[in-house]
Amino acid sequence: MAQFKVALIVGSNRRESVNRKLAEALAKLGGTGLEFQFVKIDDLPLYNQDHEGDLAPSVVRFKSEIASADGLLFVTPEHNRSIPAVLKNAIDWGARPWGKNNWTGKLAAVAGTSPGAIGTALAQQHLRQILGAQGVLLMGGETYITFKPGLIDAEGTVTDESTRGFLKSFLDQFAALVARYATPSRAAA
Ligand code: FNR
Repeated sequence: MAQFKVALIVGSNRRESVNRKLAEALAKLGGTGLEFQFVKIDDLPLYNQDHEGDLAPSVVRFKSEIASADGLLFVTPEHNRSIPAVLKNAIDWGARPWGKNNWTGKLAAVAGTSPGAIGTALAQQHLRQILGAQGVLLMGGETYITFKPGLIDAEGTVTDESTRGFLKSFLDQFAALVARYATPSRAAA
């Protein structure tokens, strides 16, 4: 039975995003005790400190979804050797206003896919740097997937057996960490 809520954040706003496909495949593979909830970031306004006093409804929703999560799973593309602007924008809203940082103390895992050979490695390094500075506790390891057509089928199944096994062990490791780290008040009965 799912006990822990994991906010799944996809760092792409593209309709046919391969990272969204990977995120859906991860949610389908599952991790023991984890319930995945996709958190929308493409409706957030462009961050502007002038608007911190009167947060847009999408920002309020986003911040509360992060605040109530037991764990965070980021699945992101690499844009120009860093994270996409849409993801950085969401991270900035989550960190503000001052004193209302929703990232601090959260446990997170990171994955990503790209058609390129290095499969988002540099974006993930930047993401770890950004999240680490906000007080996020990051699971170690490296989950870079080179995306090839057919890797994930229309049902969201990872077709390659060894990649599927690799992703499943990534999720199991994250599930074990979430179970150890989540506060009893957050864990459902
Ligand atoms: C890319 N792409 C890319 N790929 C990569 O491996 N390293 C990179 O630095 C970049 N840079 C980059 C910049 C911009 C602006 C775009 C639009 C694309 C290619 C990228 O991996 C590819 O478009 C993926 O399909 C993006 O992931 P989603 O959006 O399909 O999940």
